[in-house]
Amino acid sequence: VRCESTSTDEPKTKRNLLDSASNLLTNLLSGGSVGSMPIAEGAVTDLFDRPLFYSLYDWFLKHGSVYKLAFGPKAFVVVSDPIVARHILRENAFFYDKGVLADILEPIMGKGLIPADLDTWKQRRRVIAPGFHVLYLEAMVKIFTDCSERTILKFEKLLQGENLGVRKTIELDLEAEFSSLALDIIGLSVFNHDFGSVTKESPVIKAVYGTLFEAEHRSTFYIPYWNIPLARWIVPRQRKFQKDLKVINDCLDGLIRNAKDTREETDVEKLQQRDYKNLKDASLLRFLVDMRGADVDDRQLRDDLMTMLIAGHETTAAVLTWAVFLLAQNPSKMRKAQAEIDLVLGQGRPTFELLKKLEYIRLIVVEALRLYPQPPLLIRRSLRSDVLPGGHKGDKDGYTIPAGTDIFLSVYNLHRSPYFWDRPHEFEPERFLVQKKSEGIEGWAGFDPSRSPGALYPNEIISDFAFLPFGGGPRKCVGDQFALMESTVALAMLLQKFDVELKGSAESVELVTGATMHTKNGLWCKLRKRGDVH
Ligand code: HEM
Repeated sequence: VRCESTSTDEPKTKRNLLDSASNLLTNLLSGGSVGSMPIAEGAVTDLFDRPLFYSLYDWFLKHGSVYKLAFGPKAFVVVSDPIVARHILRENAFFYDKGVLADILEPIMGKGLIPADLDTWKQRRRVIAPGFHVLYLEAMVKIFTDCSERTILKFEKLLQGENLGVRKTIELDLEAEFSSLALDIIGLSVFNHDFGSVTKESPVIKAVYGTLFEAEHRSTFYIPYWNIPLARWIVPRQRKFQKDLKVINDCLDGLIRNAKDTREETDVEKLQQRDYKNLKDASLLRFLVDMRGADVDDRQLRDDLMTMLIAGHETTAAVLTWAVFLLAQNPSKMRKAQAEIDLVLGQGRPTFELLKKLEYIRLIVVEALRLYPQPPLLIRRSLRSDVLPGGHKGDKDGYTIPAGTDIFLSVYNLHRSPYFWDRPHEFEPERFLVQKKSEGIEGWAGFDPSRSPGALYPNEIISDFAFLPFGGGPRKCVGDQFALMESTVALAMLLQKFDVELKGSAESVELVTGATMHTKNGLWCKLRKRGDVH
């Protein structure tokens, strides 16, 4: 991945000005009860020349696992330590809310789980989390395979090349293809709506991408001009955003109305018995409407659906994108994966039971999440003052932070920390089978699979918060198992049929970030039917 380094040929005056501004802010913000914390003295330019999390990593190595960063008009505490992460996410979770993230997402997701205030969150989490029951996941594997098959068929058709005779290879932007696949899966499994985006465009699909694009823009644009009165009517991109939101909201309102109008007692009984296999519509919306009665608030339901549409779409597409990117650079691991697929699936489809045997594919998915966590940073704001525990490399007594402190919990830094991982930047799915234990790291329990018996995928419990691709504690992702199984199915079905190569060099695949890490110009790959020679 190429990432442009800080430009050195920039006019000196501009750099100096920015540096002085940065230093001034740093000095202004260095007092108070977080005063003893190391301060990152990066130039403001660092924040604009390359994705922020690269700089946060460099400063982590230089300043330690808890440091303060002056950033625009604000200061952030950057955390890269599992003990401190565990404290913020689990032990003292309710001392924190989502801070800046909630401000950005509230106009899109309303009172959905991610930005919701604590009272709404408590009530909705209790209602939504049981919807992701293991029997629901088992039923969803059929949707994962049906949708992946549609994608595979599309590729096969392209390879057959209509009237052009048989082509040997096709070139495709797999990131775009995974994005369509993930959108179709989330539509069918969460609200029983077939976007059909693998094969067509529609106004709703365009609106979903427009909204994601705006969410991305807002999370990387540091001045929230969209909150200025009238901005939503005057600024063209804000007008477009309001139009896109209306298109999606109208679509979701229609689906909610339909689910309420078609509520049947026999379905409710089947749902109560978790008899998903005999339900025509096993979607999460059906569960939310049927199990909670027809009187559930439409506006809240819409916010819940919108949140899952946004949270579960690009994240999963990104995991698949980076998994393929990594495999394409490691042909021997690609062959190892294909050998497992041949052995477990042959020419058949993955099932819930067979997923348990696709161990290497599962580890590839989690290793892709380790190297490219989505999102790379978790955001929190302290609601009251708190004492952070001493990190493994930090001040042993920890730091007191005042109410209102903004925190970046860098999952990227944790996942690539040289203190917890051997060769942290290398793609090594096998590492999860031989993970090292805690060796004298005080307060960190090390890696131990027995802490999460029966888990199909390594998680934050096994690693005591050194590996947390889905967060941890009460605000942990509700869709984690869903997303992992979806990615395993899609990856297995792709590699079952095709050999994949990058079209250009790995270095030419530029990385950009917003809410997720994605490529700048797509993941262009060459696909060849397996068994075909060049
Ligand atoms: C929360 C990651 C897929 C729904 C989260 C969080 C992370 C995450 C890190 C915690 C955020 C925080 O603590 O600030 C991912 C990744 C995914 C994925 C990497 C794919 C690989 C999904 C899917 C769904 C989903 C498929 C739904 C169908 C949610 C929701 C929350 C959440 C509703 C908020 C939970 C709460 O606050 O109670 N996700 N997610 N995610 N995710 Fe996911």
